[in-house]
Amino acid sequence: MIYRRCGHSGIKLPVLSLGLWHNFGDLDSYDVAREMVLTAFGQGICHFDLANNYGPPPGSAERNFGRILSNDLKAHRDELFISSKAGHDMWNGVYGTGSSRKNIIASCDQSLQRTRLDYFDVFYSHRYDPETPIEETMQALINLVRQGKALYVGISKYPADKQAEAYAILQAAKVPCLLSQYRCSIFDQKAKQANFDCATQAGSGIICFSPLAQGLLSGKYNQGIPADSRIAKGSIFLQPSHLTKERIEAAQKLDEMAQNRHQTLAQMSLAWVLNDERVTSVIIGTSSTQQLMSNLEAIKYLSFDREELQKIDEIVANPLISF
Ligand SMILES: NC(=O)c1ccc[n+]([C@@H]2O[C@H](COP(=O)([O-])OP(=O)(O)OC[C@H]3O[C@@H](n4cnc5c(N)ncnc54)[C@H](OP(=O)(O)O)[C@@H]3O)[C@@H](O)[C@H]2O)c1
Repeated sequence: MIYRRCGHSGIKLPVLSLGLWHNFGDLDSYDVAREMVLTAFGQGICHFDLANNYGPPPGSAERNFGRILSNDLKAHRDELFISSKAGHDMWNGVYGTGSSRKNIIASCDQSLQRTRLDYFDVFYSHRYDPETPIEETMQALINLVRQGKALYVGISKYPADKQAEAYAILQAAKVPCLLSQYRCSIFDQKAKQANFDCATQAGSGIICFSPLAQGLLSGKYNQGIPADSRIAKGSIFLQPSHLTKERIEAAQKLDEMAQNRHQTLAQMSLAWVLNDERVTSVIIGTSSTQQLMSNLEAIKYLSFDREELQKIDEIVANPLISF
């Protein structure tokens, strides 16, 4: 595994981290989930990314991860870097969503209970909440650190102006933002322009999610919808309507490029995100240990020449692909 330093902090993270958004809930196989976590850890992936609402049902990914931790990894807590987040819908009710102080603090307590942890390594505000003053959200994160419930704090998906404001508030309290989480893939390059420099200048590490555009950049949909895929399982976040002709054609062209590099499309897509040196780590999602092991091979070949990068840009610019 390759480890990169996270912003101006003393923390190093593996360039590949494992996310538990899908495939770790109560509707999924516990044995497969356990095997993926243990395989990842064995391969040097020591960073696991969670959130209160991951499942389904919400909370079940944290509960299942907590079970794996306490049964199999208890002796390794100090070798693990575990994150969780609060801010998206957790339950129907006035306090079940948003980034108020009440929601952030209560949600962190609930997440600690579900994962059976004493503290998170990093706790995020999962989204900017326009209904809550940003000072209130940041103060709640700062308090979590002061209370020992989180070692570091992070922000996720904050728009550029709010991102800078968040860094300034955290910096003033001497609880600098460790990590900024943004969606980034060959199919979605917006954050590279809008958010990465701001994070780097503030000394925050950058961690990217959905590097395969939820599977579109694995090539798995290039010949239809496989029965065991995220789309076939009925995800609300990836639906048949997202499989446009333009996206599939772009994925097919990228697949040809990947073959010329002796990589799978998934491996090339992960390498492309990591080719940006501002990026500390990429959070991958996998539904099997085979996918995990195959994606791990990406780190063997991370470099691109100028022509390859240009060609990738042309493929997604004409027609414009975004997802
Ligand atoms: N901060 C935020 O708001 C936010 C939002 C989204 C995600 N995240 C984080 O980022 C993590 C990753 O997101 P993501 O799951 O969307 O990532 P992704 O890497 O773009 O997509 C992962 C999915 O692609 C498919 N896949 C992966 N490798 C494959 C391979 N080698 N061959 C074929 N198919 C492959 C699998 O889906 P199948 O089920 O089809 O096999 C897998 O579940 C999440 O778990 C979460 O921790 C954060």
